[in-house]
Amino acid sequence: MWPKKRASKHVTRFSGTGEQAMQGRIFSGIQPTHGIQLGNYLGAIRNWVRLQDEYDCVYCVVDMHALTTVHDRATMAANIREVTAALLACGIDPKRSVLFNQSQVDAHAKLAWVLNCVTPLGWLNRMTQFKEKAGKNREKAPAGLFVYPVLQAADILAYKATHVPVGEDQKQHLELSRDVAGSFNNRFAEDFFPLPEPMILGDAARVMSLRDGTKKMSKSDPSDMSRINLTDDADAIANKIRKAKSDPHHGITWDVENRPEASNLLTIFAALSDRPREDVAAEYADAQFSRFKSDLADLTVEKIGPVTAEMRRLMADPGQIDACLAEGAERARAIADPVIEEVYDLVGFHRSGG
Ligand code: AMP
Ligand code: TRP
Repeated sequence: MWPKKRASKHVTRFSGTGEQAMQGRIFSGIQPTHGIQLGNYLGAIRNWVRLQDEYDCVYCVVDMHALTTVHDRATMAANIREVTAALLACGIDPKRSVLFNQSQVDAHAKLAWVLNCVTPLGWLNRMTQFKEKAGKNREKAPAGLFVYPVLQAADILAYKATHVPVGEDQKQHLELSRDVAGSFNNRFAEDFFPLPEPMILGDAARVMSLRDGTKKMSKSDPSDMSRINLTDDADAIANKIRKAKSDPHHGITWDVENRPEASNLLTIFAALSDRPREDVAAEYADAQFSRFKSDLADLTVEKIGPVTAEMRRLMADPGQIDACLAEGAERARAIADPVIEEVYDLVGFHRSGG
């Protein structure tokens, strides 16, 4: 088992099978800090795609969040397009879902400021992601990194979203979003913002590094061999899986404590093949790592290959990506602008002509 994390009563576990007949508005965001890796795909994006069938979905490339760490114009611009291409290639349908980049919609910054004014510093001081990202040199960390979770709350609340699909690592930020919504409601208008519920998605909510089964697979890991990028070609994917860290035990078994690498590869196998983990573990209980990895490499190439091909095709036409984002931003503004109008009115801001 993963280290025990108790599901809070506000967490919705989504199996991806569509058996829960729930309704509401989904909001989720992804930072254009780097390209997309397999953990993003299995832990987040693949579920975003499935949720389109059941919810009204708003998906956002959160470039304003990325500005807390990316300070290079060309990198930022390229990453926004790459992440958008990845989302489209994975199956986000811009006709059904609203897909856009955050900085094109003023509501995020406007609401973030209002929420900053009703969020106690003490709540932000507790955020573990800030502590991790700021590291030892807290005094030099940008203020934006500290108020990052308030901007995240604004993202969600500007659309009055009810459900937020994220990986495990975002649970604390989601709890804060609920608290911030409550803080605004208490002061200005009861029940104005719905309290958004995190949806922690499926068994692959934490995909680990291929080089170290105790570390999360991440775009910021210095070793490219630690992750599968959605831009990797078939040879690179197969090579990374063949060279993934293994262990000296016989057979492939599920044991996170003692066999984190084998367990992680099993998680990836099960997620990519849409099979229960126990089922895959039973099939390979007696197998050598070499056979298991070879099958996993084939499976990964089969599932990810078409996505990477489509992504390349899209990236060759940046104009099309930009047009898609512009259209998405317009639809996003149509939802969020009236909410901001109401918020400004509730806090007592005078509006000319209003
Ligand atoms: P980030 O790359 O941190 O902007 O994350 C984007 C989304 O992908 C968030 O919902 C994360 O929780 C999810 N995510 C990132 N890395 C992983 C991973 N290794 N396993 C599962 N989900 C992940
Ligand atoms: N903080 C999220 C992450 O790092 C990205 C994000 C920004 C987000 N705004 C959001 C996720 C709103 C969900 C909802 O993954």
